[in-house]
Amino acid sequence: MKIAVFVSGGGTNLQAIIDNTKTGILKDIEIVLVLSSSPSAYALTRAADNGIPSVVMRAADYPSREQWDSEMAECVQKSGAELIVLAGYLSLLGPKTVSMYSNRIINIHPALIPSFCGAGMYGIKPHKAALARGVKVSGATVHFVNENYDDGPILLQKSVDVLPGDTPETLQKRIMQECEWKILPKAIRLIADGKVSIENNIAYVTE
Ligand code: GAR
Repeated sequence: MKIAVFVSGGGTNLQAIIDNTKTGILKDIEIVLVLSSSPSAYALTRAADNGIPSVVMRAADYPSREQWDSEMAECVQKSGAELIVLAGYLSLLGPKTVSMYSNRIINIHPALIPSFCGAGMYGIKPHKAALARGVKVSGATVHFVNENYDDGPILLQKSVDVLPGDTPETLQKRIMQECEWKILPKAIRLIADGKVSIENNIAYVTE
């Protein structure tokens, strides 16, 4: 299966996918495109280092959001990707891309949805909010993407305990290492194997 990975920042989740295509559970998966919302994203260096084609598409560089959305959908279509993986991608996708790839876009979110999600809840912020609320577990969620933030069917979740003395940074690091870098490749594996179905906005996995 061919996939496109959308990024905005450091790209450690992209790296987890790349590593799994080399020596892990994604050996038959090809990353045909890395699309970044930022020209300075380190994820672009990771793509270049691994010979993966990349492109920067910022809505602000287009005459309208509609044109940005259309060109994005066309770019993914031309790449031949069958699945779009949002791996730390921080923009809201346009309606054309979302409808063209309906049930074929997944996102990783660094909290247990429906907690600490939605507009503005990205990066370190969900971890700050989780600690401020005093939750005893947090984690990560892979979900399908619709036109709203963090709103589509939940595919996989993994939790970790919040530990005494945790800071937003230590919690973020533990959730990345123990949750995100594991469940995002696993979600791609399940979809590639045809083990995921969606009915009435609920995702089901047949293992
Ligand atoms: C990850 O923690 C990801 O879950 C989060 O951004 C980080 C990107 O890190 N995504 C969101 O907050 C989306 N709402 P990375 O660039 O190193 O993969």
